[in-house]
Amino acid sequence: MIEAMDAAPEIRIVEDDNELAETAAGMIVDLATSAVAQRGRFSIALAGGATPRDTYERLARPPLSELMPWARTFVFFGDERGVPPEHPDSNYGMAHQALLSKVPIPPRQVFRIPGEQSDPEAVAAEYARVLGEALGTRRGEAPRLDVILLGLGIDGHTASLFPGSPVLKEVFRTVAAVHAAAAIIPQRFTLTFPVLNAAACVIYLVSGGVKAKVVKAALAERGAGVPAGMVRPSDGRLVWLLDRGAASLLPAAGG
Ligand code: 6PG
Repeated sequence: MIEAMDAAPEIRIVEDDNELAETAAGMIVDLATSAVAQRGRFSIALAGGATPRDTYERLARPPLSELMPWARTFVFFGDERGVPPEHPDSNYGMAHQALLSKVPIPPRQVFRIPGEQSDPEAVAAEYARVLGEALGTRRGEAPRLDVILLGLGIDGHTASLFPGSPVLKEVFRTVAAVHAAAAIIPQRFTLTFPVLNAAACVIYLVSGGVKAKVVKAALAERGAGVPAGMVRPSDGRLVWLLDRGAASLLPAAGG
């Protein structure tokens, strides 16, 4: 594995999908172990999409499944689609199938976004409440998760923060219901920048040459037009874990 650039963001370039999942899963175990040693618990928001599935599957089987402090782990979601949990497009459904149903995590420590409910604003407000309460967030502060996993869409979206969405400017609400016209399931729910930027560690998982251009844009511009580039934890780490394809247009990768 190559370590490129030492300033934030930390960019880690791995060979392929396999190494991406292995590295991500190993990092999660390490971060969970140190969070539990320091504070007695570990909180993580999972990403949706296809990329993290392999990471979840690795966490679900030995040796990593035996190293994770499941009894002290609290699982949230960075975003969700407006579907029931058994729907093939449900982010919770994917995480449940690949990971959560296979490990001894207490069910009351898994907080899914009930995307199937009929009032999207109420779902977002309730998840904001649940998140704040579960993390013991004080009034006026943003919830601080130990780890937030994120993916990157070809259009530059991350979680369900899409280019041009008014939610990109959100400074108060921690969870929002959004309408993503271009998405297959347009009704979405997402954590907002105030939560992403309050995390102790944000990890992007990005694979494939098809994402190379947007990876370059997100890392270069870090501004309007590329929502993924607007994630800048104010007191935390920002890790971009990329395979060679996704990193191929970055100068550090010789692209
Ligand atoms: C979702 C996401 C989204 C995802 C990217 C990348 O619910 O769709 O959380 O932000 O991470 O679209 O998705 P892939 O990993 O499938 O490319």
